[in-house]
Amino acid sequence: MQVAVIGAGYVGLIQAVGLATIGHDVALAEADPAKVAKIRAGEPPIYEQGLAELLSGAVDSGSLTVFQSNADAVALADIVFLALPTPPLPDGSADVSILDKVVDELEPVLRPGTVLAIKSTVPVGTVARYLEFLGDRFFVVSNPEFLREGRAVADFLNPDRIVIGARRHDGAEKMVELYRPLDAPVLVTDPVSAEMVKYASNGYLAARVTYANSIANVCEAVGADVRDVLLGMGYDQRIGFSFLRPGPGYGGSCFPKDTRALAHIASEAGYPFTLMENVIAVNDAQHVRILDKVRSAAGSLQGATIGLWGLAFKAGTDDVRESPAAWLARRLVLEGASVQAFDPHARLDDVAMRGSALEAATGADVLLLATEWPEFARVNLRVLAGVMKGKVVVDARNLLDPVGVRSVGLEYVGVGR
Ligand code: UDX
Repeated sequence: MQVAVIGAGYVGLIQAVGLATIGHDVALAEADPAKVAKIRAGEPPIYEQGLAELLSGAVDSGSLTVFQSNADAVALADIVFLALPTPPLPDGSADVSILDKVVDELEPVLRPGTVLAIKSTVPVGTVARYLEFLGDRFFVVSNPEFLREGRAVADFLNPDRIVIGARRHDGAEKMVELYRPLDAPVLVTDPVSAEMVKYASNGYLAARVTYANSIANVCEAVGADVRDVLLGMGYDQRIGFSFLRPGPGYGGSCFPKDTRALAHIASEAGYPFTLMENVIAVNDAQHVRILDKVRSAAGSLQGATIGLWGLAFKAGTDDVRESPAAWLARRLVLEGASVQAFDPHARLDDVAMRGSALEAATGADVLLLATEWPEFARVNLRVLAGVMKGKVVVDARNLLDPVGVRSVGLEYVGVGR
């Protein structure tokens, strides 16, 4: 099929490359000329496993073409995806002004019968609003994305499910046809329900992580080991093992934004979603708990040197958006500590970076492990103990082996262990 994707951000780029890979003709539109040049040269502007190969393949074979003008990109399209940013407003709701502007711009140039598919995470009711504005000439559908950063290409090619929210059967059919090469259950529903699936899923996963963090905190208080507690829980098939890793609290470009938006959507609609409001508050408090652990390990943060392992919001990505590690780095500096950080892929301009994990730990009064990069677990602990000035390792991801850490004379502080 002929497809256009508007916006070569994270979601749009994966969508465009993914659709080209499964056999469609894709026109990708991006306003930023630097990004256009990179993508045309077959180079991804973001780091994502497996993307470079598929992108250069799609560009070389001509199945992916990049345009700087939206109107040019949609000229031949049967389906147009909107993958534009919807940043949070101060009240937590998603700002759809960029999307609105592009819909205005496209309305006169789209061919009648085109499907306009909303990929961006939008307030519930957005598709209905566009349907009203555009009338019957086009199909407007919701098609939320569920890609995990670091595994986005694999998630696109092997999705757990595909969700299509359409008011008309013929509009939904075109979307089903588009995704036919993928082997996944397809849920066709109405637009509002499709928009809700995205928020309900991310809200649930955020609550699950927050539950694990709260249980870890209770374990600390009563002297239990959260790892065994979660193992014992996970054997229950209704519970399972995934998404229950305690840590410094969730972060990233989705969970913080989507949980706030969900709480806002519910409250605007007349239902105070106190469960979600508390998930958000408990998650913020989890960042602070880690800060408290570092402070009490250092005695005082004023003048202390803190080695920081990790800046990305999770391992496998260079993304620092709403990263607990980045939040901790800045708070530590604000409280008078000097922070020396290492992350294999991420960096921050306002944090002093070092070239390796050991260099970041050299001379440190306290070492804080904030992102679960597997290579941190492979650092030689005896060498680590030798280069540190102080003795305490705060492992905010429960990545290291406490017995090994203690065996070289260091103190181990984890989360719920
Ligand atoms: C998430 C959703 O998984 C994805 O479906 C959605 O489309 C976008 O948001 P992503 O933000 O890439 O994806 O990260 P994810 O792997 O889900 O982790 C989110 C946050 O939760 C991270 O900060 C991570 O460190 C944290 N987390 C996750 C935990 O602390 N413990 C866990 O057990 C799992």
